[in-house]
Amino acid sequence: MADDKTTNAFMDKLVALCKRRGFIFQSSEIYGGINGFWDYGPLGVELKRNIKEAWWQDNVVHRDDMVGVDCAIIMNPRVWEASGHVVNFNDPLVDCKTCKARYRADKVWTVIAKEGDNVLLSVGVEPDGDDAKAVMDAALAKANSKTRRRIEELAERVTWWSERADRMPAGVCSMCPNCGGQLTDARKFNMMFKTYTGAMEDSASEVYLRPETAQGIFANYKNVLDTSRMKPPFGIAQVGKSFRNEINPRNYTFRSREFEQMEIEFFCHPNEADKWFEYWRDRRYAWYTGLGLTSSKLRLRPHEKDELAHYARACADIEYEFPFGVSELEGVANRTDFDLSQHAKFSGKDMTFFDDETKERYIPYVVEPSGGVDRATLAFLCEAYTEDQAPDEKGEMQTRVVMKFHPRLAPVKAAVFPLVKKEGMPEVATAIHQALKKAGLASFYDEKGAVGRRYRRQDEAGTPFCITVDGQTMLDQTVTIRDRDSLKQDRIAADNVVEYIRSRVQG
Ligand code: GAP
Repeated sequence: MADDKTTNAFMDKLVALCKRRGFIFQSSEIYGGINGFWDYGPLGVELKRNIKEAWWQDNVVHRDDMVGVDCAIIMNPRVWEASGHVVNFNDPLVDCKTCKARYRADKVWTVIAKEGDNVLLSVGVEPDGDDAKAVMDAALAKANSKTRRRIEELAERVTWWSERADRMPAGVCSMCPNCGGQLTDARKFNMMFKTYTGAMEDSASEVYLRPETAQGIFANYKNVLDTSRMKPPFGIAQVGKSFRNEINPRNYTFRSREFEQMEIEFFCHPNEADKWFEYWRDRRYAWYTGLGLTSSKLRLRPHEKDELAHYARACADIEYEFPFGVSELEGVANRTDFDLSQHAKFSGKDMTFFDDETKERYIPYVVEPSGGVDRATLAFLCEAYTEDQAPDEKGEMQTRVVMKFHPRLAPVKAAVFPLVKKEGMPEVATAIHQALKKAGLASFYDEKGAVGRRYRRQDEAGTPFCITVDGQTMLDQTVTIRDRDSLKQDRIAADNVVEYIRSRVQG
């Protein structure tokens, strides 16, 4: 395969590998699954844990100006009134009156060919992106051969017009991309999941599953200030589950209804917010490149002024070119003092900070880097997937699938094989495997099948190092160590394996 990771075929291969090797499964698969929910298998959970651990180490443990919290998923519903989620956390929704399909109105377009006031043809589509070409390409891809011929025939001579379902002028109706039926007018749909606390299911006991981890941080801002000796500029970090009742969960784990976020709220003096925004934008971008998202697929996109939320002063998206299009991995925003001011207003609690040195009292501004764990995991999976040519046991070149994860993120750091299941080799290999595990380095022991096949299995799992105990080990206590990417094999002393792997994984 060429390095073309922008196709559906590539996505299919990746999804197949993730299932085959136990990275990601559909949730409740034995019951037919449930749309928008995913489970991580034995390799996936380690990959995801390593991403979260790298984030926590780099953003919390290694810094003096950051502390963490772990807040409840269900909070007092007033939190979501103050944050604006009860009123504003809506997606526009349209339904097909014929086939009952439901869409996010801002994702459905209708491509219309007009001659004067006559509509000659209209095709409803759900393109990736909203530029005219993406809309037209999606319309062509969606059209049957008859419609396509008609589009081509009309191409030159008519006016083409396309519009989003939530922006259709009055009197013009959108068409269903699925069946061509008529779509309803757009209406608002709040994306927060509701549930109840206690025995009564009434409006007084109604609560929400948090749609972002950020509000737990704002609600605890005073507690942290009072207990941790932190003062601006400082940040509070949190990693945890969030829930959104997405109308159209799609693109594998990219848009799910249950997902994890890694969020920082960084509190600073209003005059310093622009500087901190630039700092965090660049630092967060560098974090992804440092862990292996080095290809041109990673981008930084500043928001246009008209894209900004009303309370935000600046925002930049860190984007990745997934096989299904360029999409957001993380947003970095200067949220001003909006959140703390809102919570001060709704809770009646003082959210100001008094600076003893300058004698100034102010509500800090907040810079928020907010990333998704599942989206980062998917980007690292896409980036890691590689097909290359490598010799098999007979020395013949074969296509090999290899997940080239950064060693810090690799689910398994080392695999240990005895060359054969006799002559004392399994005992030596087991001892090395146990020593690695004891040192906190995820190790996998495998003695089954040809060694070449064992290497291939580890390549697919993304294991950076394979250690083989062979006849020579029994003579001079050295082992071979094979590098996943270069395929180079070195001999090192068995006693040095733990140190060698530790330095390569951390380095
Ligand atoms: N506190 C700000 C906030 O939540 P957001 O852009 O709505 O901002 C931040 O979400 C990040 O959370 C996104 O960049 C994305 O990585 C992740 N995220 C949001 N919705 C998601 C979903 N439905 N599925 C997976 N990840 C999601």
